[in-house]
Amino acid sequence: MKAQEILNGMTLKEKIYQLQQVTTLTFSTTDSRLDIITGPNSTLALDKDYIYETGTALNLIGAEIMMDVQANYLKNSKQKLPLIFMQDVIHGHRTLYPINLGVAASFDRELAHDLAAMAAKEASLDGVSVAFAPMVDLVRDPRWGRVMESSGEDPYLNGEMAAATVKGFQGDMGKYNVAACVKHYAAYGGAEAGRDYNTVDMSERTLRQYYLPPYKAAVDAGVKMVMTAFNIVDGVPAVGNKWLVKDILRDEWGFDGVVISDYSAFEEMINHGTCENKKECAYRAMEATADIEMMSSCYASHLEELVREGKITEEQIDNAVYRILKLKEDLGVFDSPYRSVDPDEAKRVQVCPEHRALARYGAENSAVLLKNNGILPLDKNVKSVALIGPNANTGEIHGSWFCGGKASETITVLEGFKNIIGDRVKYAKGCNIEYNSTDESMIDEAVKLASECEAVVLCLGEHQEYSGEGNCRSNIEIPEVQYKLLERVLEVNKNVAVALFAGRPLAMSRLDEMAPAILDMWMPGTEGGNACANLIFGNAVPSGKITMTFPRALGQVPIYYNHYNTGRPKAEEDDFNRVRFTSSYLDIANSPLYPFGYGLSYTTFDYSDYKLSANTLKRGEKLTASVKVKNTGSYKGKEAVQLYIRDVFGSVSRPMKELKGFEKIELDIGEEKAVEFTITEEMLKFWTREMKFEAEKGKFEVFIGKDSTCKPFAEFELVD
Ligand code: GLC
Repeated sequence: MKAQEILNGMTLKEKIYQLQQVTTLTFSTTDSRLDIITGPNSTLALDKDYIYETGTALNLIGAEIMMDVQANYLKNSKQKLPLIFMQDVIHGHRTLYPINLGVAASFDRELAHDLAAMAAKEASLDGVSVAFAPMVDLVRDPRWGRVMESSGEDPYLNGEMAAATVKGFQGDMGKYNVAACVKHYAAYGGAEAGRDYNTVDMSERTLRQYYLPPYKAAVDAGVKMVMTAFNIVDGVPAVGNKWLVKDILRDEWGFDGVVISDYSAFEEMINHGTCENKKECAYRAMEATADIEMMSSCYASHLEELVREGKITEEQIDNAVYRILKLKEDLGVFDSPYRSVDPDEAKRVQVCPEHRALARYGAENSAVLLKNNGILPLDKNVKSVALIGPNANTGEIHGSWFCGGKASETITVLEGFKNIIGDRVKYAKGCNIEYNSTDESMIDEAVKLASECEAVVLCLGEHQEYSGEGNCRSNIEIPEVQYKLLERVLEVNKNVAVALFAGRPLAMSRLDEMAPAILDMWMPGTEGGNACANLIFGNAVPSGKITMTFPRALGQVPIYYNHYNTGRPKAEEDDFNRVRFTSSYLDIANSPLYPFGYGLSYTTFDYSDYKLSANTLKRGEKLTASVKVKNTGSYKGKEAVQLYIRDVFGSVSRPMKELKGFEKIELDIGEEKAVEFTITEEMLKFWTREMKFEAEKGKFEVFIGKDSTCKPFAEFELVD
């Protein structure tokens, strides 16, 4: 069946049913929410007949559930248009890989693609049709819990990761693929004060220059669905924002796929104060061309009435329903309602050794070595290691969007260490993970153990539930009790490395001063313990680089590398000096603790032979920027080589530098490689004073380096 044929045979009411999304368990014959008076559906006030004509289902874990639900739905439905199932497959389905802020730190497009493809295969075998990912919201405030889902503060890197993830999920839309859903459109990461669901308010230029490009990269990569954000954009809630959704997403970018709201966001327009009732919510959302209503029932309650009143045309509804039916057609569910679901294959594939290996590889390549005085890697022949800390012996290091992942299947750091050094690892918890814990009663035991062992690894940081949706923090310091533990351990043993587990950049200047070495594992996923152990003992060499700035103190936030110069910039050489009438603080430097793009290795890399093919770029032509990178250390390692460009003068103020390219290379000891980047006019375009997306002629500086602190090595002039 083809979407248009089906649409042609539908009544108005049947069309409106397709726009509704409810939870999967609504239709379960065992775990019944069928009474729909309990659970999340109770607020929908949909009668049983309506429920069995709704178009899509939210949240599914398990092939058997999907088969039961689809069968029950089709048995009871009159239209018998199969459901499609949507799930938050954010960083893995059953085999979890690092949180996206970690995967981004790999600076490895192929890795992001392969991890998404793995997740898609596991999810499709469970009957999932759509993954609510990638989340590409640009972020600058680590108080926000959802930075863990993001790829960080840079539009270009976010966009590259978005495109790779979309292609990984969707592939050729075959058996082991799922449709991707880029979210949250738009600028959800700009929530004031880093508080979830808070007001977002920015100029159109900032929106277009920084926040929109990653969504567009996903659209250009062929993403099948877009989820609107909870927040207002220029005062209007995204889901009811015609300018944002219809004018930009659809008319300007050419997106003709499905737009879905976030959870109950239709009805939340009443809370925003832009709609007085559900009827107006339905009107605004349809005017904006939002297609699927997730877990509220404004369309169900009022669309027919709006058509009768002539406020909404049936054509508008046809367009929405067609996009949903077309997605179902693309997913093949009209021909095979159970699509790829296969309980037996799911059991064989999910969390299989190959998937574990890829998740482990992902965690090893996402981790960031923030500091190392030389203690790392530890010698595998070490006599004994005291493994201490609240994150040392827990499976809850796989992130808060753990989907179908199980803590019981996650390799703990203790297990990972045992896999390498056996019973030479000794464990003590040392303290609790709660950010407000003051319990010091376990410290003495840990200190005693540290005094008896040759080396110490402290697993500190956050619990996985301290980041993620609704998990924002006003204080992003390492908890005092963890500092107390570290301080006491350092009194008895200087051979101490910290493995940090967190879903965000933390304000950790004290940790940087105190700890001889710091390895940031993020929330590393199902194979986190093995990955951590491999990195600590040198079986793997750290190569991650942060994609979100780490502040010296929360007071510096928002702090990001691609900032403007201001009229009174503080000279870098004065960073730690007081220069009153400059853009600076009385009490702290302007520079961050760790800058965007920063990360160490166990080896060292030397950059030389910087070249720019010419110092003039004519419109429509290209330049080549190149560098040689040599492994000058004693480990084989990987390096993410970064290209930045600065538009020195423009009709509006331009960032001090912008990431315009990156390439991750692997070098053997002593090996040298040339890395080349092509510079085009397209890369130089920005939103000008007249709000046109153009490249303005003039001077540009070119930077190539290991992080965003690199200096320019050449200039060129863009000429007509
Ligand atoms: C949540 C999240 C969104 C998720 C959706 C479905 O509130 O904001 O990212 O995809 O609801 O679970």
